[in-house]
Amino acid sequence: MADQAHTIHPVPEAFATGAHVDAARYAEMYQASIDDPDGFWGEQGKRLDWIKPYTKVQNTTFEFGKVDIRWYEDGVLNVAANCIDRHLATRAEQTAIIFEPDNPEDPAQHITYRELHEKVCRFANVLLAQGVMRGDRVVIYMPMIPEAAYAMLACARIGAIHSVVFAGFSPDALANRINDCGAKVVITADTAPRGGRKTALKSNADAALLHCSDKVRCLVVKHTGDQTTWIEGRDVDVKAQMASVAPDCPARPMNAEDPLFILYTSGSTGRPKGVVHSSGGYLVFAAMTHQYTFDYHDGDVFWCSADVGWVTGHSYIVYGPLANGATTLMFEGVPTYPDAGRFWAICDKHKVNQFYTAPTAIRALMGQGPEWVDKYDLSTLKLLGTVGEPINPEAWVWYDEHVGRGRCPIVDTWWQTETGGHMITPLPGAIPTKPGSATKPFFGVQPVILDPTDGHELTETATEGVLAIKDSWPGQMRTVWGDHERFQKTYFEQYKGYYFSGDGCRRDADGDYWITGRVDDVINVSGHRMGTAEVESALVAHAKVAEAAVVGYPHPVKGQGIYAYVTLMNGIDPSDSLKSELEGWVRTEIGPIAKPDLIQWAPGLPKTRSGKIMRRILRKIAENDYGALGDTSTLADPSVVDELIENRMNRG
Ligand code: WTA
Repeated sequence: MADQAHTIHPVPEAFATGAHVDAARYAEMYQASIDDPDGFWGEQGKRLDWIKPYTKVQNTTFEFGKVDIRWYEDGVLNVAANCIDRHLATRAEQTAIIFEPDNPEDPAQHITYRELHEKVCRFANVLLAQGVMRGDRVVIYMPMIPEAAYAMLACARIGAIHSVVFAGFSPDALANRINDCGAKVVITADTAPRGGRKTALKSNADAALLHCSDKVRCLVVKHTGDQTTWIEGRDVDVKAQMASVAPDCPARPMNAEDPLFILYTSGSTGRPKGVVHSSGGYLVFAAMTHQYTFDYHDGDVFWCSADVGWVTGHSYIVYGPLANGATTLMFEGVPTYPDAGRFWAICDKHKVNQFYTAPTAIRALMGQGPEWVDKYDLSTLKLLGTVGEPINPEAWVWYDEHVGRGRCPIVDTWWQTETGGHMITPLPGAIPTKPGSATKPFFGVQPVILDPTDGHELTETATEGVLAIKDSWPGQMRTVWGDHERFQKTYFEQYKGYYFSGDGCRRDADGDYWITGRVDDVINVSGHRMGTAEVESALVAHAKVAEAAVVGYPHPVKGQGIYAYVTLMNGIDPSDSLKSELEGWVRTEIGPIAKPDLIQWAPGLPKTRSGKIMRRILRKIAENDYGALGDTSTLADPSVVDELIENRMNRG
């Protein structure tokens, strides 16, 4: 494994020749982006169509107490017009979205830019008819179907702020998000087929709306035609309405700094935060990173297998590709249905040129054996990408050999919901890769490694610490919805003057960055970001649970698994059936992605004398790493640790 990680994969020569950016150009552009950010980003901003061009470029400060991020602040544009209308003159008949349904027997759809324009306009008119106005919030709780993209773009067209909630979240989680952003409307579908099974989205939305204002309307896309309950006056049949409204809808001029969307993400404490992204800076950054990181060329078919419920789907299924006039593929299903060859069957069928997925999917498919890949024609693939969690060198090498067949550069892209787009990633024509390293910063991004104890910048090339960013970039989040204070505290308080990522990082002697994982109480489970505090609060909400502490532990396929230590109420006996009950409970409180992989009954939790749970110790026990427990002398009752270890060992 160590050897694999140390192998350098040079840029294939033929790739460099045709690439947008080769090594010399990367060096030159990177330098320019740091020396003269206004000049550099001023130029890059021109990749969009502006209704009123900006005269200012960067106006940002990371100073704690005064954090303020603005880019292109006096520019006026419309994001949907940039993703659709401006392409009509040259690409009206080009496919904008390829839709591949869950069931491979059902026909795929090819939606042209002309059709996309009409669908989005009609959808926007449906929203307007419901009284949705500029600045209003719209929650989108949808399957991976084209209507999800229409809904997002329709909001952008009329200046409404969308907040997509992943369809795997439970009614409670959905209700919390609807209430936090004060949404006027929820857009959902009847049911969502995935892997041959259906999720009842509309009935989840019904359950969520019981906890929301009765003014919230529910717009339903009848996707499968399955029967659902229907509340007259509240529920709206989107497709029927779309057929009756006008096919055109003017794109509303928006300020560059007007919010485009809110996306809830987990942090180390409290409830998920509503990450707010802007219109202008976000789109410049999404479009630019999509073009350069994937070396996207006109006519290529690009496939990002993420869900639109995550930031990856926002930036690299919808906004980045469409801003670039690309053909973007949307897949409704899962990698293992009807069999473990589905991803590769789709690459073959739709002649995919760039494929972008999560390490967890690669590991799961790797476990099924290479025959599932080998039987498909993957000769159209030019580049592969990964995102969401560190990739282990074995998975990287398998991806390279079996999917890329040794021809395709792999871009391991490090970024976050908060960053809007790629921050550290190889540019495929410029930067040699190493399995497991995200390599070098994108243009305008200045990563620094800080000493976690005192926050000073570690300037030696080869070093290790926590990852922070020195200056702003256009795709940076602007605030936490409704709580600018929390935004500042989360990202700018601990290490003054920097944006703190929450990730640990090593820089090697070549200046390549290796992300080592979160250093806070956030875990990455199958590439899904989860706050341990959220799972804990779900657990303690159960009547039989007195206390709970949740940590991540290494999991062979998921990357990290969820390990829950649970202390029961007095008089409640632990049992396997109670374990299943608690698992089911967390599924309904948050969603299936938060279900604990392991529950350990804990008669007591290790706490300091001031009552703080020592998670470091719990992490070590979950990892079966008892030798490195460190200092336990500050514990109120050190004997609980022995007891936990004994229980852990007994379970084998
Ligand atoms: C992790 C997903 C290692 C990291 C775009 C980060 C990664 C968190 C990588 C953000 C990568 C993302 N290598 N770790 N290439 N990409 N991460 O907000 O811990 O869902 O902080 O955004 O995922 O997750 P989020």
